[in-house]
Amino acid sequence: MNNKETTKILFVCLGNICRSPAAQGIMQKKIDQAGLQDKFELDSAGLYGGHAGELPDHRMRIHAQRRGYILEHRSRPVKESDFFDFDIIVAMDDSNYHQLKRLAPTSESEGKIVRMTDYITGFPGYHSVPDPYYEGASGFELVLDMLEEGCDEMLRRL
Ligand code: 4NP
Repeated sequence: MNNKETTKILFVCLGNICRSPAAQGIMQKKIDQAGLQDKFELDSAGLYGGHAGELPDHRMRIHAQRRGYILEHRSRPVKESDFFDFDIIVAMDDSNYHQLKRLAPTSESEGKIVRMTDYITGFPGYHSVPDPYYEGASGFELVLDMLEEGCDEMLRRL
């Protein structure tokens, strides 16, 4: 997608304790398995800063660990420099997407913002990765299923 050595991807959700750190962990594992560690740099961030410094939600950590993903990211809020530092900014849902579009400081940085569901085809009727925070176990499993498919497809396209 560009001539640089590495592609930097930022995954964004609301709290940065469920969906986006899971996306980061899943994508990192797929990159590691493909031997592409030198080609990508990943991070995640949230549009709500109230969980800053926290590990991912314990429910997400447990569900992810069962699939072999160890989530150790510390939540942090999106910051203006992210729009310059990253090549692709991946929003988990419509609200995240529109909020990021409003925050983007330049039209070039606005063009970096995509939806996670642009890469997910196997879940008809879902136009966003749903917030699992107030859901039960099935909500977390659904998010992980969607993110595994989306990360596979994103890596394939890159
Ligand atoms: P996430 O889930 O956006 O996938 O990290 C949420 C976590 C916390 C809150 C909302 C969503 N919250 O409002 O505290």
